[in-house]
Amino acid sequence: MDAKTLHVDAGGGYDIVIEPGVLDRAGELVKATLPRAKKIFVLTDSNVGPVYGPRFVASLETRGFMVRTHVIPAGETSKCAASLVEIWSAMAAFGMTRTDGVAALGGGVVGDLAGLAASTILRGVDLVQAPTTLLSQVDSSVGGKTAIDLPEGKNLVGTFYQPRLVLMDPEVLSTLPTDVFMSGMAEVVKYGCIWDREFFDFLAARPTREALMAYITHILYTCCDIKRKVVNEDEHDTGLRMILNFGHTLGHAYELAGDYVKWSHGQAVAAGMVTAANLGVELGVTAPDVPGKIKGVLASLGLPTEISCGFEHIEKAVGVDKKSSGDFVTLILIEDIGKVKPLKIQKSDALELLSRMLGR
Ligand SMILES: NC(=O)c1ccc[n+]([C@@H]2O[C@H](COP(=O)([O-])OP(=O)(O)OC[C@H]3O[C@@H](n4cnc5c(N)ncnc54)[C@H](O)[C@@H]3O)[C@@H](O)[C@H]2O)c1
Repeated sequence: MDAKTLHVDAGGGYDIVIEPGVLDRAGELVKATLPRAKKIFVLTDSNVGPVYGPRFVASLETRGFMVRTHVIPAGETSKCAASLVEIWSAMAAFGMTRTDGVAALGGGVVGDLAGLAASTILRGVDLVQAPTTLLSQVDSSVGGKTAIDLPEGKNLVGTFYQPRLVLMDPEVLSTLPTDVFMSGMAEVVKYGCIWDREFFDFLAARPTREALMAYITHILYTCCDIKRKVVNEDEHDTGLRMILNFGHTLGHAYELAGDYVKWSHGQAVAAGMVTAANLGVELGVTAPDVPGKIKGVLASLGLPTEISCGFEHIEKAVGVDKKSSGDFVTLILIEDIGKVKPLKIQKSDALELLSRMLGR
């Protein structure tokens, strides 16, 4: 595994360091990025903390930082207002000042929560992301979206708050359960679908975790490079950034249908991408061989390519989709692998077509 660095211009500008073992260099890199910070508040979860926390903290302490570690129970249920209040209190009790920093060591749940806490405590302190799942490395740690869930829905409260540094250690992916790794692969395949045909073909030729891990630095780099280009263009999600939602509207319908338990986000997005490709073919936008190609790659990774769900869930997901305004919704379609094509159409037309396609 080799090392690579990418620079994101959004926010004040920051580096994404993709490097095996970089967690052991956290102290050195955080010191260089946040020279005025004395204290670092580390947020982690009950799975990641015991395995990677000691190394990460030791590296920070070696460079003279005072560190306080706060561990949340692993899982999406921790991404809630009650956890946020506890984290704010722990930060205040630690005596943080505005020049100190927060580090998120964990998956997307830890990253989203730490980001929201960092953006609000003392009206904002510096944030370092150290993502430990494939999904958080290729997606949530880059781009500055933070959030908590409410009982009324996912990610309903949040901020845009770019990190100052992202430390991405590919080696930590070795301890991920297979389903969590493969869930992240759905987002990886998405980047190929919307942006990079060569990358899609590269993935198609490597259908096992072992084969993918042999090229993991290249995979992380390629995904983060696409995400940073999109985020640099559209930091606050008002335009281009919507292309990252390929497969996500229908994915949300599938997640909803399974009460967020039956299907993980990645599994739901996988099936959502296939439905979106089929929809594109029906609309005459997508080349007819595209759904089969996407299905082939996803199936070889053990991801679902079809999920049945009540039409009411599809109606709800299309209705509340953030890409919808008034009577219209923007469907993220692809013309071909690597060529995204957003299409604004009447919501009623989209629903009628989906209802016909899904035989309802
Ligand atoms: N901010 C964004 O732009 C953005 C984008 C996509 C998703 N998200 C959010 O990300 C969250 C999902 O992220 P996730 O899939 O990383 O879930 P997660 O953070 O819940 O992690 C999944 C599981 O893997 C465990 N884990 C993490 N790293 C590990 C490691 N190295 N070894 C072993 N186990 C490990 C965790 O403890 C957890 O049990 C959702 O809340 C979603 O809304 C945010």
